[in-house]
Amino acid sequence: MRFIPGQTSLFFKVIFITSLILIFAISFNVWWNTSLHGASIEKLTQDKTKIISEFIEENVIRAMEKGRHFDMHRILRTFAVYRDVRKISLFDFEGTIKASTQEDELNKQVGDVEAYLKNRYFIREEKVRLKDGKIERERVYYFNTPILNRPECFQCHAQERKIIGVLTVANSLKEMDTMLWKIEIHSVILAVITIGFLSFVLGLLSLKFINIPIKKLTETMKKAAKGDLTVRVNVKGRDEMGSLAENLNIMIEKLGLAKQEAEQYHQELIQRADRMASIGELASGIAHEIRNPLAGIQGAVQILAEKFPKEDPRTQVTEEIQKQIYKLERLVRDLLNYAKPVPANYLPTDINGLVDKVLSFFVRQRGMPADYRIEKKLFSSLPKTMIDPSSMEQAFLNIILNAQKAMPKGGTFTVSTVALPQRKDDGKEVREVQIIFEDTGVGIPGENLNKIFNPFFSTRSDGTGLGLAITKNIVEQHGGRIDVQSRVNVGTKFIITLPAVN
Ligand SMILES: Nc1ncnc2c1ncn2[C@@H]1O[C@H](COP(=O)(O)OP(=O)(O)OP(=O)(O)O)[C@@H](O)[C@H]1O
Ligand SMILES: [Mg+2]
Repeated sequence: MRFIPGQTSLFFKVIFITSLILIFAISFNVWWNTSLHGASIEKLTQDKTKIISEFIEENVIRAMEKGRHFDMHRILRTFAVYRDVRKISLFDFEGTIKASTQEDELNKQVGDVEAYLKNRYFIREEKVRLKDGKIERERVYYFNTPILNRPECFQCHAQERKIIGVLTVANSLKEMDTMLWKIEIHSVILAVITIGFLSFVLGLLSLKFINIPIKKLTETMKKAAKGDLTVRVNVKGRDEMGSLAENLNIMIEKLGLAKQEAEQYHQELIQRADRMASIGELASGIAHEIRNPLAGIQGAVQILAEKFPKEDPRTQVTEEIQKQIYKLERLVRDLLNYAKPVPANYLPTDINGLVDKVLSFFVRQRGMPADYRIEKKLFSSLPKTMIDPSSMEQAFLNIILNAQKAMPKGGTFTVSTVALPQRKDDGKEVREVQIIFEDTGVGIPGENLNKIFNPFFSTRSDGTGLGLAITKNIVEQHGGRIDVQSRVNVGTKFIITLPAVN
């Protein structure tokens, strides 16, 4: 796995966090166990020392009652044979040691008698001479039993004293401490082994179920991102990783299909553009060739028609031939128009004036059909546009003619102009004008809306299908765009947007 600075692997995070939790839990467990063990061993020592103390007290009192003071040393020594008992001493109320298993302490002072009387027991660390003569530091547990004055004692001790002495048994805690230390060491070793083993197993599991699958998924994604959509990830299993891998494979497969479709579509577009270009070239070539013979035929038919009287049935034939020749002429003209480049005779032009001019030309040429109304809503302070006026006239006229044909039973044709609010594009101020042509005609069915600008698309028997293609060409050559909105039997709206002069 590649190491990226600042990025910690998931594997490391899982192991690190799990180990931390384990260390915390196991350490707490070790501490808890040793504390419990310590407390119970201490209690045992305490009980043992207390029992020894009680025995000695009983024996000492009995010996003293019988006036056998010299027996005290023997009694103390009898109990001193216990393994952990370091020392047993008896001192009077003034702190003078009267009997002790350590004979060098006899008649010495214990120091703070009050401390012995106040604390039934205490632990202190001290240097102890072992039986083999060695000196060691160890913790020693002192259990102190005050010996109370009673009538039997009055023969030797003054009556007013309540306590006539203190019996103290010193018990070594060395064995207990050693045992506790061993328990601690064992627990720690066990903890280290457990943590190590669990981390290792967890590591293996996360490597098998998380790391390796993630690595495979990432590599597959990288390959797919580089464009290889044949790649598939091989992670089996009914867990989340398995379903992630399955979904990734499905996604890559779908991407592959979409890419194939896009490539096919692109290919078709290129082929179509190619076809259109060659059709355009071919068409204009043919149009040129047809033009002159057509003019010849027209002249000949004209002469023939003039020779027949009006009522002659042949006149009908010549009229039909003339109609068809007119249609052919239009096709030739439109073809040449479509193929010719837009002339670069750009002038700052007032679009309102141009709309007026085209509409009056249309009315003059066609006459105003009955039930056909023209409305103008021209924006009063429309900015000028840089256009070739005669091409733009042609573009507008095509739309006006279409509208007229779309309203065979009459209707309203509205032309409006509007200045769009100024906007910023790439930091540049952009001003635009819109010319909106609306009719209340038959409308365009939804399935035809994206075809009407294609050359040769026509639903009319007398149409060449070049009108809107020419209009679109002209508008786009001027840096503008044309949009259409239509509802069947309601009407159609063409919106031309052109850049305005600043
Ligand atoms: N205002 C409109 N209302 C309804 N349909 C329209 C309108 N304008 C265009 N169309 C549809 O779009 C088609 C293509 O129009 P276009 O002007 O390119 O060709 P045409 O009018 O059929 O033929 P030509 O303009 O060459 O005589 C039309 O045949 C018609 O079906
Ligand atoms: Mg047309």
